Amino acid sequence: MKLSKEQIKHYQETGLLFIPGLFSTEEIAKIQDAVVTLSTRDTPGRILEKDNKTVRALHGCHQNAEIFNSLIRHPSLLTPASEMLNSDVYIYQFKVNLKGAFNGDVWPWHQDYVFWDQEDGMPFPKAINVAIFLDEFNEFNGPIYFIPGSHQESLIHLGQKQSSETPNNWESNVSAALKYSLDQETITKLADQNGIIAPKGAAGSVLFFHCNLVHGSAPNISPYPRRLLIITYNSINNIPNCQGNPRPEFLVSRDHTPLKPLRDKVIA
Ligand code: SIN
Ligand code: MN
Repeated sequence: MKLSKEQIKHYQETGLLFIPGLFSTEEIAKIQDAVVTLSTRDTPGRILEKDNKTVRALHGCHQNAEIFNSLIRHPSLLTPASEMLNSDVYIYQFKVNLKGAFNGDVWPWHQDYVFWDQEDGMPFPKAINVAIFLDEFNEFNGPIYFIPGSHQESLIHLGQKQSSETPNNWESNVSAALKYSLDQETITKLADQNGIIAPKGAAGSVLFFHCNLVHGSAPNISPYPRRLLIITYNSINNIPNCQGNPRPEFLVSRDHTPLKPLRDKVIA
């Protein structure tokens, strides 16, 4: 998929680009099936909510199922990501945030790059998230909130630097008690300046968003699940140094092979 000049400009100015209906109902059904199957497996990258039952997230899925390994090479995801980063890319992270009906918990306001900078030693914010809606996102089921343009603020909150002596407590990077969340004063100021948006739409819609864009989401008290698949591509010129105490591979991929788009049917 080739982006138009207007789409690229929109992404550069706001930090995000929303493309409704990129995947068909049949394609999403196959991805959903794979998510359900993977959710039942006790893999190291499977994270539970505080109730110790509801699956909060699945990490490193591209290493656990063929369909996800193909998806990272989908031309409609990979080509725009490469174009927006102006570079060949490799897979940095692959996760599904499930935000289950009634029990899916909060994602406090944050920027992603602070985690990759502080925890992994990623040199520059030259990574991009590609988020695929696996369910309809509506006003009830905890859609993601974004502050458009906030990626231009660069890194707002640096948090505590982890010592290489302490065990790498990566759980606080993926739980509702997020390590590098933003304070209320910062969010109030940014929201006053730029407002808040919550893209909504049918399953199969896709959101590209900048790794410094401020975002978060409320708990899901609705009866509707809200599953979001997020692929993070990183520039091959921006490989983290992962010094000291690296996070597990399901959070930071060690395979830096540049990805090539697949030509044939990707979601079989
Ligand atoms: C994220 O910050 O990685 C996603 C938040 C969400 O799934 O709502
Ligand atoms: Mn995030």
